[in-house]
Amino acid sequence: MKKTVVSFILFSGFLLISLFLFNIPVSAQDVSKTNASIPEDVNKIVSVSCTPCHTSQGGLMSKTKLNFTEWTNYSPEKQKERAAKMYSEINKGAMPPKAAREKRPDLIPTNDQADIIKKWSESLTAGNK
Ligand code: HEC
Repeated sequence: MKKTVVSFILFSGFLLISLFLFNIPVSAQDVSKTNASIPEDVNKIVSVSCTPCHTSQGGLMSKTKLNFTEWTNYSPEKQKERAAKMYSEINKGAMPPKAAREKRPDLIPTNDQADIIKKWSESLTAGNK
């Protein structure tokens, strides 16, 4: 009896922590007003595929690594570095994370969309030379 209660409490705690950390999305948020420096074609992709997690309303881990609400406050160096990382994560199929890809396949960027992110990232690098 006691054991069951303890397991239940442990399990609930685990569930809460998972929800907090991974914050599986239910809907995307419109950040078009906050990330003005992200071009429209990129923003269209990001606001479907990435902002369910990567805004100030997202999970702690996701927003610490990449936060589109804060994008315009990132230094040009950081924007350049994060944009390159965005493409590399998409390209190797690491973002959106596996659990989200399985639950919401519609969030996965298409090859054409990945290409738009790539070109944008390269344009930032070129512009900052
Ligand atoms: C279901 C939530 C979710 C979605 C959707 C999502 N991410 Fe993430 N992302 C995370 C979490 C959680 C982390 C931190 C843990 C990790 O690095 O795996 C993360 C980390 C990252 C990082 C940092 C990697 C590093 O090591 O610095 C990048 C870049 C990233 N995501 C890009 C994206 C892009 C681009 C998209 C949209 C195509 C996206 N993510 C969609 C949850 C998400």
